[in-house]
Amino acid sequence: ATVSVLSYPFSGGQPRAGVDKGPDHLVEAGLLKQLQSLGWHVEYSEGAVDQLLATVKSDADIGKMKQPRAVSAVTKQLAADVAAVAQGGKLPLTLGGDHSLAVGTVAGTKRKFPDAALVWVDAHADINTPLTTDSGNLHGCPVSFLLGLEGTDVAPFNEWLKPCLKPEDLVYIGLRDIDNGEKKILKDLGVKVFTMHDVDKHGIGKVMDLVLDHIGRDRPIHLSYDVDALDPTITPSTGTPVRGGLNFREGHYIAEAIAETGNLVALDVVEVNPSLGEDAASVAQTVAIGCSLSRAALGETLL
Ligand code: ARG
Ligand code: MN
Ligand code: MN
Ligand code: MN
Repeated sequence: ATVSVLSYPFSGGQPRAGVDKGPDHLVEAGLLKQLQSLGWHVEYSEGAVDQLLATVKSDADIGKMKQPRAVSAVTKQLAADVAAVAQGGKLPLTLGGDHSLAVGTVAGTKRKFPDAALVWVDAHADINTPLTTDSGNLHGCPVSFLLGLEGTDVAPFNEWLKPCLKPEDLVYIGLRDIDNGEKKILKDLGVKVFTMHDVDKHGIGKVMDLVLDHIGRDRPIHLSYDVDALDPTITPSTGTPVRGGLNFREGHYIAEAIAETGNLVALDVVEVNPSLGEDAASVAQTVAIGCSLSRAALGETLL
């Protein structure tokens, strides 16, 4: 089987420089060779982020949205790239970059697999709309665009993006920093959410059973993994760390349980920011975990 690694060095969904350096660090840490060692045929390509951004002459806010033209241009191309990989029978692994990229990755997956479920592992729900966002950062909004919530039918996104996700297609794991507007959206839509409270209560094994009960065990799965889902002691080099996160094994168990289904069709690993963290060891550890989560999702087992 072939995994097609798509490097997307993009930071325009949030304000902190450095997250665009995430893909290069993951590759320099040996990710491609590690995936080959698991038995995958590995392809690698770099998204033409610089050329795409060069087409954006000026990018004033639209309503509360920051850098909307940049995010739209990059995610539009990423959707085409992911769809092409999936149509070719290969598994796209998108390396971010910030989580606004998931507008593109999930839209691309849905072109090939309209019935795909989305498992979103994160400290955050990333379901703000252009109307509810306080920060204006589009990495806090990708899920609302995929669902087509009120306020997301706006240019430039509506020139190419159609709502492609239903609330029942979506499950969250690891949440612990949800904005008030997001809480209302999640409750109104009835989205399945396993917060850190639920991980504490049930344990991660039971949580993953419940996740798979909800989405079904014979359905394509897109796994979108924000490394800030793990505790900042585990993945410190990320832009919006929140204490009280998944521990090392919980984080990997999620990826292993998805791999065990045999239904993974696409993977995102996002929000590794090598410019953040106390020291070089923090960066190296965060990058190493980006690699090990990728391996776990692609079938690495402990035995
Ligand atoms: N909820 C906050 C916002 O909308 C934080 C989002 C953080 N998202 C992320 N992908 N790290 O700005
Ligand atoms: Mn090849
Ligand atoms: Mn997050
Ligand atoms: Mn996120």
